[in-house]
Amino acid sequence: MATSAVLLVVAAVVALVAGHGAAFDPNPLQDFCVADTTSKVRVNGVPCKDPAAVTPDDFFFSGVDRAGAGTASRRYGFTALSVQIPGLNTLGASHARVDVAPGAVFPPHYHPRASETAVVLDGAVYFGFVSSYPENMVYAKVLRKGDVFAVPQGLVHFLYNNGTEPAALYATLSSQNPGLVLLADALFASGLPDDLLAKTFLTDVGTAHKIGAKFRS
Ligand SMILES: *[C@@H]1O[C@H](CO)[C@@H](O)[C@H](O)[C@H]1NC(C)=O
Repeated sequence: MATSAVLLVVAAVVALVAGHGAAFDPNPLQDFCVADTTSKVRVNGVPCKDPAAVTPDDFFFSGVDRAGAGTASRRYGFTALSVQIPGLNTLGASHARVDVAPGAVFPPHYHPRASETAVVLDGAVYFGFVSSYPENMVYAKVLRKGDVFAVPQGLVHFLYNNGTEPAALYATLSSQNPGLVLLADALFASGLPDDLLAKTFLTDVGTAHKIGAKFRS
């Protein structure tokens, strides 16, 4: 996790420097390019399956109604289910169900390559994003079932279930590979020096070390 968070940051920086920091995935040149996940070819995306072998199931996913489906975050108490649809390959979109238990957070994070729109399926959640420096303005609302909120590309956002009912959301992201940088993990689980972190958080080295230890245990 630590290494992949750092790699994401590095990849985003390299992409920007190389002039590939476009705000959107490339336009498709065909109706569809169903992902052939068995291919060993390396391209920007996943190679296409033979169109003659494409079936309706390549555009289908089931089980988004199941509460708590997907991978649980031990650290933060949310679960995320990535909606895997091979037929979305190259089409600039991805989807996920996110469940946030009462008291849990999906902590401040950003997607370097995608904007996000989320609809609340169940419960209520405090959801918002923070604008860039130097304004650092918080745009957030308590959302309830049926509410939708949008997060601009690359901005830090969060979910906090400060209520008593489980909350579930369905999120749509404007990239096939949005990337995920969890700020706390990128800083504290990455092995950055404690003295650098202490100066960054305007605190002492002991406090920085104590926080870091929780991320590394
Ligand atoms: C959750 O937090 C938000 C923001 O602080 C607040 O407006 C809301 O009332 C809180 N909800 C509950 C159930 O405490």
